[in-house]
Amino acid sequence: MDQTLKGKHIVLGISGGIAAYKSAYLLRLFIKAGAEVQVVITPNGKEFITPATLAALSGKPVVSEFFAANTGEWHSHVDLGLWSDLMVVAPATASTIGKMANGIADNMLITTYLSAKSPVMVAPAMDLDMWAHPSTQRNVATLESYGVEIIQPAAGELASHLVGKGRMAEPEEILKRVERHFSRRESLKGKKVLVTAGPTYEDIDPVRFIGNYSSGKMGFAIAEEAARRGADVTLIAGPVSLETPHSGISRINVRSAVQMLEEAMKAFRDCDIAVLSAAVADYAPEKRSDRKIKRENTDGLTIRLVKNPDIAAALGAEKGNRTLVGFALETDHEIENALGKMRKKSLDMIVLNSLQNPLAGFNKDTNQVTIIKSDGSETEYPAKTKKQVACDIIDEIEAFADKR
Ligand code: PMT
Repeated sequence: MDQTLKGKHIVLGISGGIAAYKSAYLLRLFIKAGAEVQVVITPNGKEFITPATLAALSGKPVVSEFFAANTGEWHSHVDLGLWSDLMVVAPATASTIGKMANGIADNMLITTYLSAKSPVMVAPAMDLDMWAHPSTQRNVATLESYGVEIIQPAAGELASHLVGKGRMAEPEEILKRVERHFSRRESLKGKKVLVTAGPTYEDIDPVRFIGNYSSGKMGFAIAEEAARRGADVTLIAGPVSLETPHSGISRINVRSAVQMLEEAMKAFRDCDIAVLSAAVADYAPEKRSDRKIKRENTDGLTIRLVKNPDIAAALGAEKGNRTLVGFALETDHEIENALGKMRKKSLDMIVLNSLQNPLAGFNKDTNQVTIIKSDGSETEYPAKTKKQVACDIIDEIEAFADKR
């Protein structure tokens, strides 16, 4: 039997939706896998499944109120938050998601969430229109930005008999995600990972530059995921407005491709894995004017551009037995161009994202990628959030490194 969950402390949060009946089965799966589970249920949750069932399955009294009515005993959400190795909220209704996103601490489940020092996973369940509503989507995005892992609902027949996206993921799927979470936790401990992210800006004069639309979201998600798995991460970031997402990340801010190259070469020396997701400007003005170029002083303007260094190729030339991963952002002949780049830059793997796909590329919260390896194998992934794409990329890197 898989030992990943043995002895793990899981807080199972149950809110008031019809999918709560599946939580009993999920709880049983956690217990069978060796976890200790403490159920925290909202007042509405109890309308859908009885605490007696959940207490019998978990072997622990279910927590729901702040105080036990008959004894006045205080149920400490702080202690629960500290006890937890992982909190899983399943089902999470639109209301619970909204309260979690906005810190509305009016029940034990939310106060426990706010006190939890552990990672948190949420399996939403609701009607399709509620799921699609912009306020729900905004709350889900807010939770993701706090590092909460969302187990996306599935499409199918809903309690309303309407058909669409909103069904809670099946308990087996949630169990798999939880097992994956624990097995990944320390999987990169002792490894040094270099990530480049964001655009580079190539200055024309003190007020103008050549740049691109990269927000850094993809690269920051990769750095965060590697840090979560215990890696010591160096993140070399072009000019972006993102916060550093994890304390295990040392961030170096740069502006131009030349600066990025210099920092990447230094960090590459003692790294094990490098993921180059930055959108590096291929060209820079040959000369940077120290003073603002005045419109009145010119009759049109020609800027001669020179090629920037190719950072990926420079690292590729010194790769040794490190794992080197690049990205390819393409508009056409995607696979062919990506393969060409992988070979030319001596990469082990290239992550192809296409600007043809509206869910992929610059400044989106989602991406759709195909990962191509140097042995020619290709895996095409569906569109996912950039955080989930980052998990897929790191999973592929770990599998690649294991086979070496
Ligand atoms: O930052 P986001 O808004 O989240 O957007 C993410 C992204 C679209 C920028 C990212 O997913 C992505 O595709 N990054 C690579 C973009 C790119 O520059 O692709 P490319 O095909 O031009 O470059 C191929 C590879 O060579 C890349 O790994 C790139 O980092 C590297 N390169 C490119 C040029 C150069 N002078 N030096 C390089 O190292």
